[in-house]
This record gives sequence, C-alpha cells and structure tokens, in this order.
Amino acid sequence: MKAIKYEKPWDVACIDMEKPACGKGQALLKIMTAGICGSDIGAFRGTNGLVSYPRIIGHELAGIIEEIDESNNPKGFKVGDEVIVDPYLYCGHCYPCSIKRTNCCTSLKTLGVHVDGGMREYFLHPANMLVKKPANMDWILAAMAEPLTISLHGVHRGNLKAGEYAAIYGAGTIGVLAGMVAEAYGAHAIVIDIVQERLDFAKSVGIEHVINSAKEDVVAKVMEITNGDGAQLVMECTGANPCIRQTLDVVSNAGRITFTGWPHKETSLPTDVITKKEIDIRGARTSAGEFEEAIELITSGRVDIRKILTKTVTIDEAPETIIDIEKNPGNYLKVVVKVGLE
Ligand SMILES: NC(=O)c1ccc[n+]([C@@H]2O[C@H](COP(=O)([O-])OP(=O)(O)OC[C@H]3O[C@@H](n4cnc5c(N)ncnc54)[C@H](O)[C@@H]3O)[C@@H](O)[C@H]2O)c1
Ligand SMILES: [Zn+2]
Ligand SMILES: [Zn+2]
Repeated sequence: MKAIKYEKPWDVACIDMEKPACGKGQALLKIMTAGICGSDIGAFRGTNGLVSYPRIIGHELAGIIEEIDESNNPKGFKVGDEVIVDPYLYCGHCYPCSIKRTNCCTSLKTLGVHVDGGMREYFLHPANMLVKKPANMDWILAAMAEPLTISLHGVHRGNLKAGEYAAIYGAGTIGVLAGMVAEAYGAHAIVIDIVQERLDFAKSVGIEHVINSAKEDVVAKVMEITNGDGAQLVMECTGANPCIRQTLDVVSNAGRITFTGWPHKETSLPTDVITKKEIDIRGARTSAGEFEEAIELITSGRVDIRKILTKTVTIDEAPETIIDIEKNPGNYLKVVVKVGLE
C-alpha cells in the first residue's frame, strides 16, 4: 500500500509499505480522504519541535472500517461503517484524562506528530477513537472536520456568546474557521492578518470585519468596531509573538483570550494589564469531544467548510503538493488528498 512519509525534514515521498493487520482494540480503516495541515508543512520544514522522524504524516482522516476487533468497541461500529478519526491518543489515567481533558493528557500522542499518521491506503486506529460519519457527508468535507474541531475548541475555551465580538489573529485555516464558527454562533468576527489576499478571502466567506495589521492600527480599529469596548474574546491563531502581545490591548475589560497558535519563542507580557482588565487567558490545544459538533456544523451548512478547500489531489501528487505549499503557502488554505476516493 502507498503512504506519505517524511524520512527527515525536506524529504517527502509516496512510499510502498505492507498493509497492517488488525490487532486488539483496533479497527483497520480503508482511508478515503486525508487533509494536509499547516503542521504537516512545519514538519516538512523541520520547524515543528514536537515531530520526530522518520514519520508517516496525516491526522485529518476519514475512511471505511474494513476490520474491527471487538475488545474495545464502545460505539458498536461494524465493518463497512464510515468514520472520521479522532487523532489525539491519550493515556486515560493521568490527571487531565481523569477530568475528561484528554486533549492535554500528559503523554498525548498526535498522529503524524509523535506517532505515525494515516495518510496511507490502510490505517490501524483504536476502535474507541472513531467518530461516525453521517452517510450524506461528503468524503472531502469529512477530512476537514479535524481542523474545525481545533477552531471550535478555541471558541469553546473562550466561551463565545451570541452578540459578542471575537477578534481573531490569523487568517489561515484555523483563524478563518474560528471566524466562521463565531459568525455561526451569532457573534461578530474580526480577523486580523498581514496578508491582504487572505483577508479578502476571509471577507468572502462571511467574516464581518478584517484588519490588515501591516497597514492599519489594529488596536484603534478594534476599538472603533467594538464601540470602544474591545473584543470580549480574542483568539490567537498565528503563533506570532507581536500578535500574542497585542491580544492584551484589543481585549475588553473582563474579556477572555485563548492561545491556539504555537509560538517558536516566548513572549513577554505586561501582567499589570491582565490584572487591571481582569482578563481570563486560556490555552487551547487540539480538541476534546468536539468532533460531533464539527460534523453537525459542516453537514447543516452552518459552517460552509467547502469554501476553504483549495483543491484535492491524489496520493501520488501529495509529495509535490506538500513541496509547493511550503514554497507558496499564500496560494493554499486546505488541500485534501483523495487516498481511496475515485
Ligand atoms: N493548539 C493547537 O492544537 C493547534 C492546532 C493546529 C494549529 N495550531 C497553530 O495555530 C496556528 C494557525 O494554524 P494555521 O494552520 O491556520 O496556520 P497558517 O500558517 O495557515 O496561518 C497563520 C496566519 O497567520 C498570519 N500571520 C503570521 N504572522 C503574523 C503577524 N505577525 N501578524 C498577523 N498575522 C500573521 C499568516 O499570514 C497566516 O495567514 C499555527 O501557529 C499552528 O501551529 C495549533
Ligand atoms: Zn492539523
Ligand atoms: Zn492522560
């Protein structure tokens, strides 16, 4: 079977490997679609410190159950069922796991990052980490549920309510999807980026306000849009240090900030502002229990996720596509690999 493997940074290939055999507690999936994530590009560049090599990538996955072991199949899945993969493997017994915060398990293993992922024709995954894909859900869109759960998790961690303003740093996949969720929740999204094309795109998918931070005074603009209050929720989806710092200036008094972006360096923050405004700051890592809502948002059309699809490619085209995304990231939002899909 074919698989997309990074032998080391800057070395991607579609390799041939043995089809795996189903083991205890596992399901053997015929992978239909697999999304290419920004983190896969970071791993290709060797700038994602969490990734070890060699590594088969792929954590945005949808497929069909070809075989399933019954020893840990709480949802009663059967051969032939169509599923989406929850890709964050947790231990189940550490403190965060004991309070159902499995996404920040002390030994969290994300597919394609800490362990081999599923951008391959057949893939083994714990049977209890599968989510039912509705029969009417397009396979291409099914692979896009995972990035939506990341944005959704940030929105949930920030407790966004209808009528509020959500200022979102970053018009990449995660920031744009966060903006689409905010609009679906009846809030007003303000997306901030330095790339005008990305902001124009964000506008075209229904984001109410966009700010180009290379040209405009972000703080003044956010204050103007929010009638002087600032944004009740600020979501950081770039990982850029200046954006992280500025979240404190655009958030309202008594507001909330969530940090989803992964910075490469630490950021110095004036904690007196946190005290004075009484800001709640929360991290937001991967997602936990958010696949069902993501699937509902997609299938109901409340988040028209197809709009962020740049293109689909075959598994043979995946390596050259990854190389091109690395060179021209501005040309892409989401690319989905049709692994088993005709
Ligand atoms: N917490 C998690 O579990 C999790 C999951 C997925 C992604 N992430 C992180 O979230 C972030 C966003 O992911 P993505 O896939 O959307 O990435 P992306 O690269 O597609 O988008 C990032 C956007 O930030 C913009 N940007 C960069 N520097 C900026 C600056 N100084 N000012 C304004 N805008 C700036 C870029 O122009 C780009 O549009 C990344 O840091 C990624 O590592 C975190
Ligand atoms: Zn991802
Ligand atoms: Zn754990």
